[in-house]
Amino acid sequence: YASLVTTNAARHRLVAGKPKNLLEFGLRRAQGPDGGISASRYSYMGGFDATSNVAAGRLFGIPIRGTHSHAFVSSFLGLDEIIDKALSSSDGSNKCEDFVSLVENWLVKIQGASSLRGSFGETNQSELAAFTSYALAFPNSFLALVDTYDVMRSGVPNFCAVALALNDMGYKAVGIRLDSGDLAYLSIETRKFFCAIEKEFGVVGFGKTNITASNDLNEETIDALNKQGHEVDSFGIGTYLVTCYAQAALGCVFKLVEINKQPRIKLSEDVTKVSIPCKKRCYRLYGKEGYPLVDIMTGQDEPSPKRLVRGFCVVTLSSSQRELMLFHSMLRSC
Ligand SMILES: *[C@@H]1O[C@H](CO)[C@@H](O)[C@H](O)[C@H]1NC(C)=O
Ligand SMILES: *[C@@H]1O[C@H](CO)[C@@H](O)[C@H](O)[C@H]1NC(C)=O
Repeated sequence: YASLVTTNAARHRLVAGKPKNLLEFGLRRAQGPDGGISASRYSYMGGFDATSNVAAGRLFGIPIRGTHSHAFVSSFLGLDEIIDKALSSSDGSNKCEDFVSLVENWLVKIQGASSLRGSFGETNQSELAAFTSYALAFPNSFLALVDTYDVMRSGVPNFCAVALALNDMGYKAVGIRLDSGDLAYLSIETRKFFCAIEKEFGVVGFGKTNITASNDLNEETIDALNKQGHEVDSFGIGTYLVTCYAQAALGCVFKLVEINKQPRIKLSEDVTKVSIPCKKRCYRLYGKEGYPLVDIMTGQDEPSPKRLVRGFCVVTLSSSQRELMLFHSMLRSC
C-alpha cells in the first residue's frame, strides 16, 4: 500500500507540474481511518504539499489545508445570525467592532466598480454570512468554497468582499475553491475578476489570489485541464489518490529462491508464475539520452553488465513479437 500510494501521488505530481500546490483531500473516501492516515502520509512522501487530514498533520507534521463544506454555507440564512462581529487586526494594533458592516461596505463598492458593472447583481446573503463567519473564525486561513449557489454571480463577489475587509485588517485571504462546473472556464473568469479588483481598488497582489480546484480530479482530468488552459493554482485530490482507483493493488508476491545456498523453485502450469531460482542482482540499463531501456537480472556471482559491451540475455516473460523486436532494437542502441 505504501509503494502504491506513493507512486500514485508521484504520478499526480508529474501531471500537475512542480509549481502547483497538491492537496490530499481523501480521508472521507479512504478505506477506514487507518487507511486514511497511511494515504495522507504516503501522498506527502510522493510529492503532495498538504493534507486535509488533521490527524495526519498532528502525527507526522504534514501541513494541513482545507475549506468549509457546502453544508456550512447552506446552514446560514443571513448576516443577522452573526453575533460576535469583532475582529482584531493581524498585528493586534486595532480592533474592528463590526466586521460584518466592513464586509457589506466592500460588497457595495465592488457592485459599484465600473470595470465589474453588469457582471453580477445581488449576491446570496446566506452565502455572504457563511463566508464572513468563517473569516471571523479563521482570518489567517480564509479559503472559501464558492460554488454553493452561483460561482460568478455570488460566490466570487462575496469572497472578494470578505477578502478586501480582511485586507483592511492586515490579513491576506488564501483564496477560493471550485468544486463543480467547468473548472477551466470558471478559473479563468475568476482570475479576471481578481485582476479587475486589484486594478480597481489598488490592492497589490490581489490578482494572484489562489484558486483551488477539486471535484473527483485524477491524472486524466488534470491533463485535460492543462491542455485546455486554466488558472488553477492548487488541486485538491481525494478519491482517485487514496483508493488508487487506476490500480487498486500492487501485485507483488514473495517466493523463496534460495536457502542455505541451495536453490528453490516454485512450479506452475502458468509460465509467468514459475519462480527463477537462486539469489540474483538487478540492474537498470540507461541509454545515451538518460532514459531507462531495460532491466537485467544476473546471478549473484555473475559479472555485472559493462558499459558499451554487448551482452546476451533471455526475456523471461512471454512477450508479443512486436515487444521483442522493440526490445532488441533498444538493446542495439545501448
Ligand atoms: C440563497 O440561495 C438559496 C438557493 O437559491 C436560497 O434558498 C436562499 O434563500 C438564498 N438566501 C438569500 C438570503 O437570498
Ligand atoms: C498559492 O499557490 C502557489 C502555487 O501556485 C503556492 O506556491 C502558494 O503557496 C499558494 N499560496 C497560498 C497562500 O496558499
